[in-house]
Amino acid sequence: MEKKNIDWSNIGFGYIKTDKRYVSNYKDGAWDNGAIIDDDMITMSECACVLQYAQTIFEGIKAYTTVDGRIVTFRPDLNAERFANSARRMEMPAFPEERFVDSIKKVVKANEAFVPPYGTGATLYVRPYMFGINPVIGVKPATEFQYRVFTTPVGPYFKGGAKPITIRVSDFDRAAPHGTGHIKAGLNYAMSLHAIVDAHNQGFDENMYLDPQTRTKVEETGGANFLFITKDNKVVTPKSDSILPSVTRRSLMYVAEHYLGLEVEQREVYLDEVKDFAECGLCGTAAVISPVGKIYDHGKEICFPSGMEEMGPITAKLRETLTGIQEGKIEAPEGWIVDIA
Ligand code: PLP
Ligand code: COI
Repeated sequence: MEKKNIDWSNIGFGYIKTDKRYVSNYKDGAWDNGAIIDDDMITMSECACVLQYAQTIFEGIKAYTTVDGRIVTFRPDLNAERFANSARRMEMPAFPEERFVDSIKKVVKANEAFVPPYGTGATLYVRPYMFGINPVIGVKPATEFQYRVFTTPVGPYFKGGAKPITIRVSDFDRAAPHGTGHIKAGLNYAMSLHAIVDAHNQGFDENMYLDPQTRTKVEETGGANFLFITKDNKVVTPKSDSILPSVTRRSLMYVAEHYLGLEVEQREVYLDEVKDFAECGLCGTAAVISPVGKIYDHGKEICFPSGMEEMGPITAKLRETLTGIQEGKIEAPEGWIVDIA
């Protein structure tokens, strides 16, 4: 199979239309059989629930080529489970988890020519999503839904790849206590758009959101969880009911403990103690693990000893081990790597 003529090593994290997508519709209480289609356009009522009341959820997964030439994806069962949890919280019908995984395999296989070759640093980003499609004007959930999966080849999420970034403590909140921060609902990202534009305008790469109730504890960024490394090499990640349970973060915590023999801890992390950590990273499917060099907090700067030139040694080790597992260079725990083609 011939690959598309794309400059794989130089693409950013943007949308490039690929040939095929998957679609399945829910009506009269049941999902149809689903199909791979060509049309990237969606036609719906002007009063569709997703347009009026933002009833939409999504996932993010990567498919990529391993060192021995297989096309694989990483722990899609966890995305399937999280997608079903998101659906339940948003009063949407869960898409069956085994069908979710199957739809990802089908759509990646159908777009095999867009899966970047090994060693280019690029991957095929897979975006499953679901939305309420029938007209709704009183505030209530839709009764008809569409589930779709498209793919797009992507490079690094942050420009400069693995170079440390600068973030700021945000004055805007992301997710209220007992709200929707723990699920992947489009609405969480809608409300972060002003905050990210404002952060970029002020020269920062991302926002650090605090817990809205007390504004003393670290939550996450707009698209990634935090990992901190203590001066004695312990890996610490914030615990909160309103952050997204990141597949990457859960995998990195496992790698830290079981592959690198490091102590790991999930606990509340106070903004006041962040200055005492040795390293800081953002982790997610898109971000992998991106080092944070500096955090700006209302006129004060927290500068990590790892600096602005390179990622810290433990962050680097975590990244190298996780990507090694993903690329088939290091043996993976059972079930982590799922073959597609
Ligand atoms: N937190 C937020 C808000 C996200 O959007 C993402 C991206 O999916 C993550 C964390 C990282 O999650 P995962 O590692 O499952 O991609
Ligand atoms: C991901 O990492 O997959 C995300 O969804 C983060 C961002 C692109 C929203």
